[in-house]
Amino acid sequence: MSVISRFITRADGSAPDDVTIEPMRRKHLRAVMPIEQGAYPKSWSRSVFESELDQVKDGSRCYLVGCSDRSVVGYGGLWFVADPDGDQAHITNIAVDPDRRREGIATRLMLALADAAIAHGCVAWTLEVRASSEGAHELYRRFGFAPAGIRKRYYENTEDAIVMWCHDIHTPAYAERLRAIAR
Ligand SMILES: CC(C)(COP(=O)(O)OP(=O)(O)OC[C@H]1O[C@@H](n2cnc3c(N)ncnc32)[C@H](O)[C@@H]1OP(=O)(O)O)[C@@H](O)C(=O)NCCC(=O)NCCS
Repeated sequence: MSVISRFITRADGSAPDDVTIEPMRRKHLRAVMPIEQGAYPKSWSRSVFESELDQVKDGSRCYLVGCSDRSVVGYGGLWFVADPDGDQAHITNIAVDPDRRREGIATRLMLALADAAIAHGCVAWTLEVRASSEGAHELYRRFGFAPAGIRKRYYENTEDAIVMWCHDIHTPAYAERLRAIAR
């Protein structure tokens, strides 16, 4: 079983619902872009996604989509950063179709991204989140992220970013946390 499917497949082989997680490809970008544009005041352009996908090939990025009935309903990505104290994974982006929020799709994507980070050999993961995105804060807290700092006026030179970290993701204790979330 692939590392990505480990958390999204039941014992009988069926998906927990209609959403499957798969690697993002250029063909997905047509569906990704409207979600991206609706998700952020300053969204990524298609060329930013293309550049990120180009870097999947050299192993420095991982991008996944959640698909339902062949439509993209969410996506997320990681940037792997080498560090003498142990490699880190930075969550670069995660967003879900507004019509499909609060169904656990971001949770499913996060589980698969965690799996990818651990498989890559990372010992920690991190992200920046808008101070006002309280829903996202709660999602990240569930995964063990804790606030570690503030980047003042980081977004549009107006809104602060909260920097969050989650350490020791290579440990059995973290694997148990992921299993509990998946359940
Ligand atoms: C943040 C986002 C990705 C969450 O996607 P989602 O698929 O709705 O998230 P999930 O259904 O997996 O939610 C998991 C938990 O996170 C918390 N949560 C998520 N969205 C929330 C919201 N709007 N308000 C309060 N809590 C929320 C809840 O605890 C939720 O569990 P529950 O539904 O059992 O209460 C989505 O709202 C989104 O795309 N937002 C715009 C883009 C964005 O801000 N991305 C984060 C950038 S750092």
